[in-house]
Amino acid sequence: MNVLLIGSGGREHALAWKLAQSTLLDELYIAPGNPGTVRHGRNVDIDVKDHRALRQLIIDKRIRMVVVGPETPLVDGLHDRIAADPQLKGVTVIGPGKAGARLEGSKEFAKEFMLRHNIPTAAFRAFGKDQLAEALAHLKHLHAPYVIKADGLAQGKGVVVAADRREAEQALHDMLGGKSLGQAADRVLIEQYLKGIEVSAFLITDGEAFKMLPPAKDYKRIGDGDTGPNTGGMGAVSPVPFADKEFMAKVHDRIAVPTIRGLRSEGIPFQGFLFMGLMNVDGDPYVIEYNVRLGDPETQAILPRLRSDLMDLFEGIATNTLSERHVDVDDRTCAAVVLASEGYPGKYATGKPVVGLPLVQGALVFQSGTAMEGGQLVTNGGRVLSVAAFGKDLEHAILNTYANAALIDFEGKAHRTDIGHDLLRSPAGRTEGAKLDVK
Ligand code: AMP
Ligand code: GLY
Repeated sequence: MNVLLIGSGGREHALAWKLAQSTLLDELYIAPGNPGTVRHGRNVDIDVKDHRALRQLIIDKRIRMVVVGPETPLVDGLHDRIAADPQLKGVTVIGPGKAGARLEGSKEFAKEFMLRHNIPTAAFRAFGKDQLAEALAHLKHLHAPYVIKADGLAQGKGVVVAADRREAEQALHDMLGGKSLGQAADRVLIEQYLKGIEVSAFLITDGEAFKMLPPAKDYKRIGDGDTGPNTGGMGAVSPVPFADKEFMAKVHDRIAVPTIRGLRSEGIPFQGFLFMGLMNVDGDPYVIEYNVRLGDPETQAILPRLRSDLMDLFEGIATNTLSERHVDVDDRTCAAVVLASEGYPGKYATGKPVVGLPLVQGALVFQSGTAMEGGQLVTNGGRVLSVAAFGKDLEHAILNTYANAALIDFEGKAHRTDIGHDLLRSPAGRTEGAKLDVK
């Protein structure tokens, strides 16, 4: 089968790497891809928003399956455009249509959905542009910290966790007043603050059956010790010691099952990945957000652990037979660290030569913000690449990952040095005698 993968980040590089291992794959095309994905398929330089160009590519290359990495094309209706096109009949899209993508595209919709289906989440109230006064008044009934969220897609910048009322009021003024985030903040949610530790859970579904994928922990802040501004994610580990059998059984029963059942009962078709961003509050999972795709960099730590053929799971979606497929997972721990350009998530330079990739041994390198310039790999984004490695336990996975990350260099290379360390401090992740010496 010929497959088209949409996207250009580390997540898509990991997907391309995994799909290329399948005997069920004939040709893999990636639009637009990055210099890392060319090792696993053919990059096609088209604008995925240009439906005519996309449909021509699908027809010309006899593509039978379109795998959508990021959320924006799904929220914009890519799935529906392909499904409605008579010339593209029989093309499977991995990723939901517009209706299902609202779980990510509208936080208010997601919250209302969770309320309808008794899925545990923080209490909330939503306010429109003309309700600034009500929103400000509502704050007075709450205690710090305050959680203020833009309703729409905001590239990870739509949430303000305010330590005091003045900061919360400012956030409401900025969002509802149109100063920050544009249309994404036409509606705003004020949420109850959940105190706990976050974990990312994933499932794959054909709309009827679903299979859980391994959970991962993401490190969203730029600085060690979870300091500084939020980023797309600076590293990930999988599995997560505290997301043990008992916790994951709660995720399955209280969140995954009612979510898939809820989608069905509301007549919302959903095929692809569902990412459940969770807060573990004293051993109980609460949904912070849904995403309708895999995570980046979680994917870079999860897919290396997936022993099963990903194409086989995708074929399960195409033929509505996912219930008959198996998800086989490597028990070992995989850790991924993102090497970023200094300045990210603010301003940063690009075009810096990236060296040392051939030195990496026993680890995977997934590229994201890179480009080829005259035969030289150079930086071309905030998150440049991620390095992922296994270890017999969390400690050794971290050591292997950082040892390999140290071999890669570019001017302004910046990264967190403490990916997974919080989990090492918890007894479930600790190995006696091993020492951690990461730079
Ligand atoms: P989101 O974009 O919804 O994932 O939110 C971004 C970050 O804000 C999350 O990763 C959490 O760290 C934090 N956050 C969001 N909602 C809450 C909440 N209700 N309570 C505490 N922290 C939250
Ligand atoms: N790493 C978080 C995300 O992909 O949204």
